[in-house]
Amino acid sequence: MNNNLAAISFDTINDEAGKYIAGGVVSLNRKVNPPIVFKKAKGSKLYDINDKEYIDYHAAFAPYFLGHNNDEVNDEVIRIIKENHSLYGTGTNELEIQLAKELCDIIPSFELVQMTNSGSEATAHAIRLSRAYTGREHIVLMMGGYNGWHNDVARSVMPSIDVIGERISPGEYAFIPSSAGIPEDVKNKIHCINFNDLNSLEYVLRKYPVACVLTEPVLQNIGVVKPQKGYLQSMLNLCEQYGAVCIFDEVKTGFRTSLSGYQGVCNVLPHLSVFGKAIANGYPIGVIGGKKEIMSLFDTDDIKRRVLIAGTYNAHPLNIAAALATIHILKTKPVYVQIDSVCKILYAGWEQIFAEKGIPAVVASNASASVVYFCETLPDDMHDILENHDFNLDLKYRRLLIRNGIYQIPLPCKQNSVSYAHTIDDISKTLEVTRKVVSQL
Ligand SMILES: Cc1ncc(COP(=O)(O)O)c(C=O)c1O
Repeated sequence: MNNNLAAISFDTINDEAGKYIAGGVVSLNRKVNPPIVFKKAKGSKLYDINDKEYIDYHAAFAPYFLGHNNDEVNDEVIRIIKENHSLYGTGTNELEIQLAKELCDIIPSFELVQMTNSGSEATAHAIRLSRAYTGREHIVLMMGGYNGWHNDVARSVMPSIDVIGERISPGEYAFIPSSAGIPEDVKNKIHCINFNDLNSLEYVLRKYPVACVLTEPVLQNIGVVKPQKGYLQSMLNLCEQYGAVCIFDEVKTGFRTSLSGYQGVCNVLPHLSVFGKAIANGYPIGVIGGKKEIMSLFDTDDIKRRVLIAGTYNAHPLNIAAALATIHILKTKPVYVQIDSVCKILYAGWEQIFAEKGIPAVVASNASASVVYFCETLPDDMHDILENHDFNLDLKYRRLLIRNGIYQIPLPCKQNSVSYAHTIDDISKTLEVTRKVVSQL
């Protein structure tokens, strides 16, 4: 903090933003309370406009797996600029071929890939591919899943229990849009069921002509909800039985769980999968890949089945360079081992602190992704969270942490992300602050 100057008020800057930016922030899920304005970030740290330092567990919704502004990744991007690589907008080039080859080598289910600028674009393409492939239109999504902002997936991620009512199984929940402007015809073709609920999955697969089942293999937009043993394999089997395409949305689990994604850990190979976020450590890229038979529809001679993929900025050389550099680091440095060891200390520390204070809490985690649920047992689905988690306590906890220099986004159940830049020192400080904060809950 600059002691000579009065602190700059976040509210003043937010008011200024509101004059020009619709809603005052870009991407409305960044609208948080308390408002905060950052000016730079390096490694595991964020710095606000008053120079206050925070240990960051938000990681901008998870992409910064190596930490903010990783030098090696940035240097590679700068090299690509200095060498005059460009977006040629015609034909292919060596960089994108190198990344495509790399991805087909490391992601077990990838036979062919395509590239986009974001995870949402990748899920949109995956859904359209599945419709073209099957000749069907209905899709199945998970309650509590998030797969992007476009019409086909824009259901409310965390509706209240009053809105969704009693648990439904076997069966489907009403589609609750997260946006106005979605045509009724689209809504009628979306079927939302609980994660980990095979009876409901079979119910909808039997009832509708389903093109695809799209799921995060671990629900990481409502904290960390893991698949029960055998669930993902049974999902794949049911998809095959009923002729639907099984799509894993690995935008959050990919690269963070392991180099080969969650699919590399659970050994279930979906027909299609999509990646984003950590693949390029903060640079914007999405990837879709999977079975040759389906992916080939992007360029089939059969014009009635050909699926459009286009985008001026797809495979932009800066993003490809960032992805290649990130993957190189993941392959050559002990990233997973180090993150695993600091996470073990962090998660055990949290458990101990809450136990000592007698606050019912459980730590859910998938490698570097974690969350504290304020309830007695780990949830199996969104319904469990809505019924048992103390949302007010969660919010209070996050706000106290922020006040004390630990940034966990002040939205209940949002995932924490540890990076390769987090040190043992960061973890010790985090636990020290947590101990203090928890005694104020
Ligand atoms: C699982 C998952 N899928 C898709 C997306 C959409 O990705 P993007 O924000 O890059 O469009 C997200 C974003 O948070 C996500 O978490």
